[in-house]
Amino acid sequence: MKKIILLFIISLLFTSCNQEEENSNQLKGLVTEKAMVVSARAEASKIGTEILNKGGNAFDAMMATELALAVSYPVAGNIGGGGFMVYRKNDGEIGALDYREKAPLAASKDMYLDTEGNVIKGKSTSGATAVGVPGTIAGVFKAQEKFGVLTVKEVLTPVIALAKKGVLVTKKQEKRILKHQKDFKKVNKDTFIFLDPWKEGDTIKYIALANTLERILKNGRDEFYKGETAKKLAKFVQSNGGIITEDDLEKYEAKWRTPITFMYDNLKIISMSPPSSGGICLAQIMNGIESFDLQSYGHNSVKTMQVITEAERRAYADRSYYLGDPDFVNIPRDSLISKAYSKNRMRSFSFEKATASKDILHGSIKITESMETTHYSIIDQYGNAVSVTTTLNGGFGSKLYSSELGFFLNNEMDDFSSKPGEPNMFGLIGAKANEIAPEKRMLSSMTPTIVEKDGDLWMVVGTPGGSTIITSVLQTILNVHEFKMGMQESVNQPRFHHQWLPDMIMIEPNQFEKNIIEELRNIGYTIDERNSRLIGKVDAILVLKNGKLEAGADPRGDDTAIGF
Ligand code: DON
Repeated sequence: MKKIILLFIISLLFTSCNQEEENSNQLKGLVTEKAMVVSARAEASKIGTEILNKGGNAFDAMMATELALAVSYPVAGNIGGGGFMVYRKNDGEIGALDYREKAPLAASKDMYLDTEGNVIKGKSTSGATAVGVPGTIAGVFKAQEKFGVLTVKEVLTPVIALAKKGVLVTKKQEKRILKHQKDFKKVNKDTFIFLDPWKEGDTIKYIALANTLERILKNGRDEFYKGETAKKLAKFVQSNGGIITEDDLEKYEAKWRTPITFMYDNLKIISMSPPSSGGICLAQIMNGIESFDLQSYGHNSVKTMQVITEAERRAYADRSYYLGDPDFVNIPRDSLISKAYSKNRMRSFSFEKATASKDILHGSIKITESMETTHYSIIDQYGNAVSVTTTLNGGFGSKLYSSELGFFLNNEMDDFSSKPGEPNMFGLIGAKANEIAPEKRMLSSMTPTIVEKDGDLWMVVGTPGGSTIITSVLQTILNVHEFKMGMQESVNQPRFHHQWLPDMIMIEPNQFEKNIIEELRNIGYTIDERNSRLIGKVDAILVLKNGKLEAGADPRGDDTAIGF
């Protein structure tokens, strides 16, 4: 009898657990049994999944998805840019790969200033002068070589086939190309494929890119950095007034980094370390809010928005002062991510009144230690997880396109601080730690993140969005952990953002209740709805209690999850 009662209780518990999961997932994303790729384009997710289906692992799929995005999502997918990967293998081993662009050898601190010391408009954002030395090919080869199980040929063949066959233009892409055509014309001397009047449903074939990828397949990673491609690339950038040389390309290396890790309740967050500010900033914000009972305040309530905003304000103030390329500057990493530090920073916060950003300087720490991007998340059938954010920086990067090589070049140099106190294209302010120097990597906000819950793989998450990347990743995690949403439901929620300066809360348009906005205004927050826009395009995967995977593919873009 006792046994029967026990079984009854266990089965009740089991159903209530499952119900909890069902109820909270009113808006469900794709659910698969064991493997999934979520990216900005169906074509890339499909190729990534096919690689997994062939027996490849998450690292093979990373190379395939990244390069398939370079073909199918040229606004941000790239071989002319760079990125970051955070991984967690099925045995629990974690790590990070930095394939961020770097400043050319001939770069200098004041290269974007005129003789009077003013920033020359457009020089760091547009055309050949804005281009950093690309890292993507070095990155995907380094990751796949170390952990992949397929041959490069097996991985690259479907990508090259896609480039030759061509990719359908979506409605969103049609608008995006049209929006940028004026700048394309300004930057490029000759006409090129993106100046054609592309419409939804057309197919764009990428023959020049297919040829470049074929040479890379034949000659390996060095083709891009030392081979024919390197020579053509250096010549092309220089003939357009840029400073990248063959020497710059030859010297480029992707680097293994130790990810930032910290606890939030029973979650272990594993995120990107410098030269991205993502992991450190995320840690500071989460440490700042951990002791507040967000659950009882409610999702996107005034109190929740206040606590998050104030923690963000303080973390971004530190970001602009302390963070830069760790190979060039000392970052007080351990102090910044300590619980005590952020708790202390929040002591000046009160629910009664907004803190003014002018009253928040970077915290004081003794130095003793050192829009358009895209994110994809992968979990393979073996339990390995990969979280990657990659970028050209702005939409189509510098807008400079090599018709011979078939790709856009980044404008990542704008992520440096051209002049202390002068905002970059994301309104971010920098200081000495992020000033330009030869071979230095520019500070990033990219936050590819993996979360463990009670020691097990739980979430893979990340997003584009410039300075809003960190806060979008934060809200996606909180929506699931604090507010009990499913993965897709969490990704769909309206988002808000504060980055210290400018001192305002950015909110997604027409998504927040009027009375919440009014109440926030009454206690002193500036909310600039006029300048508001969509925030982030999160692509994430959640491991459900039953072991299945749920996707969160952001409906703000053409993002798609595919898996099995
Ligand atoms: O590394 C960074 O932080 C920026 N270059 C990212 C740019 C970005 O996310 C643009 N996307 N909307």
